[in-house]
Amino acid sequence: MTAFRVAMNFVRPSLDTAAPNALEVALTDDVLVVHGGTPLEGRIRVRGAKNLVSKAMVAALLGDTPSRLFDVPRIRDVEVVRGLLGLHGVKVSDGDEEGELVFDPTNVESASTDQINVHAGSSRIPILFCGPLLHRLGHAFIPDLGGCHIGPRPIDFHLQALREFGATVEKTPEGLHLSAPNGLHGTKFALPYPSVGATEQVLLTAVMAEGVTELRNAAVEPEIIDLICVLQKMGAIIKVHTDRVIEIQGVKRLHGYTHRPIPDRIEAASWAAAALATRGHVEVLGAQQADMMTFLNIFRSVGGEYEVTDLRPPRGGSPGQEGGIRFWHPGGELNAVALETDVHPGFMTDWQQPLVVALTQARGLSIVHETVYEQRLGYTEALNTMGANIQVYRDCLGGTPCRFGRRNFKHSAVIAGPSKLHAADLVIPDLRAGFSHLIAALAAEGTSRVYGVDLINRGYEDFEAKLADLGAHVERP
Ligand code: EPU
Repeated sequence: MTAFRVAMNFVRPSLDTAAPNALEVALTDDVLVVHGGTPLEGRIRVRGAKNLVSKAMVAALLGDTPSRLFDVPRIRDVEVVRGLLGLHGVKVSDGDEEGELVFDPTNVESASTDQINVHAGSSRIPILFCGPLLHRLGHAFIPDLGGCHIGPRPIDFHLQALREFGATVEKTPEGLHLSAPNGLHGTKFALPYPSVGATEQVLLTAVMAEGVTELRNAAVEPEIIDLICVLQKMGAIIKVHTDRVIEIQGVKRLHGYTHRPIPDRIEAASWAAAALATRGHVEVLGAQQADMMTFLNIFRSVGGEYEVTDLRPPRGGSPGQEGGIRFWHPGGELNAVALETDVHPGFMTDWQQPLVVALTQARGLSIVHETVYEQRLGYTEALNTMGANIQVYRDCLGGTPCRFGRRNFKHSAVIAGPSKLHAADLVIPDLRAGFSHLIAALAAEGTSRVYGVDLINRGYEDFEAKLADLGAHVERP
């Protein structure tokens, strides 16, 4: 079998230790052949943010009447949450509009651990079912989590918060069993780090807990604010104070919501980086300036050009009038930059990998300090094999020392450019690094084979169709 033979020569990052085994992936024949060297040109559209949509779907469990969510992308995480909701008695159906989902939670019921375990290892979203299931059923079973292998990704903040609310948590080999024999009660809680997931956990639990919850050091990403909008539409009382403090007044009942989510700013930035790395020109319909300001500043500093074509007020207007942001490479050389990933309003960790491919084309030394995940630079090894010149370091090379500085993680990168990228056979290690591999293959001279591309479907809707719309020369063998 061809895939089996080439597996021995795969470029595989060593830091992503839990990444799929090259042979395992190769044997699936899940491969995209990429003829690189052609600028991406054209227009694509992003829909609702993956990292909001899946959480809004979980929130539907809390209502006692149906909810409607628009602009839901067809991605793997949505399928997982849909499956879990279905197992718990929530009827999920397609609405009238393309991308609209309707959730009827009037008959929420328990599911068996065996049924739930079908979804083990497939996503991180199941951990957010804890609060809603405890409210609706008094107990919850959570399977082993999946998601990208970009560090240990513990759930200690989640479990600590749930215990503060009064939940008991039992860890077993098959998963987590939770119950709330005395109900859930509001609490004062400070997160050790402004974790997105743990903030969502607290929100989804506190909205129906008895009394007031005060969360300090909360994450305030736009996706969190949009989740708060969803919960407020359902009848929740949530105050977002300054300095990362969120106060939630528990209510006895919540009803359904109708919501159009914020667009996917990670996907938008990924296509922008692809335009820059391939010296192309891509309009991303749906992209919103307000949620991408930090990315736009770096994009401009690198030498990329953009124009905001969405003339609606933020989060306003009707779908028919949609614009977005047009991104392009203006010609000439790109500039090296120093950047540090951080929680909002910093530069998102998920923007890092796609942009680094463009930075391989910039003249001089770029510095990237990854402060959100400790193992999110492993993919750079594959880029080096394609001709990039990237060194990773254990030191904090940004302005601020971060949590990983003294913990022996290679979490800073120096990118020397410009480098001519050439084709290679690549195995995709995780979602965002996978997209960066794809961009590198598109930017490189020659024909690359990218294995394990199905992983990209976890977070990028119809990416193969979008590549075709942008004139990329890709094919399934
Ligand atoms: N952390 C802990 N303990 C916890 C929770 C988090 O130590 O209990 C640490 C993590 O290990 C990490 C940091 O806190 O070092 C931040 O993690 P966070 O909880 O904020 O991340 P998450 O909720 O698991 C979401 C997105 C990620 C995105 C991050 C940061 C979803 C489904 N995932 O993850 O998106 O990178 O926030 O913005 O919303 C992606 O889309 O590819 C992706 C990885």
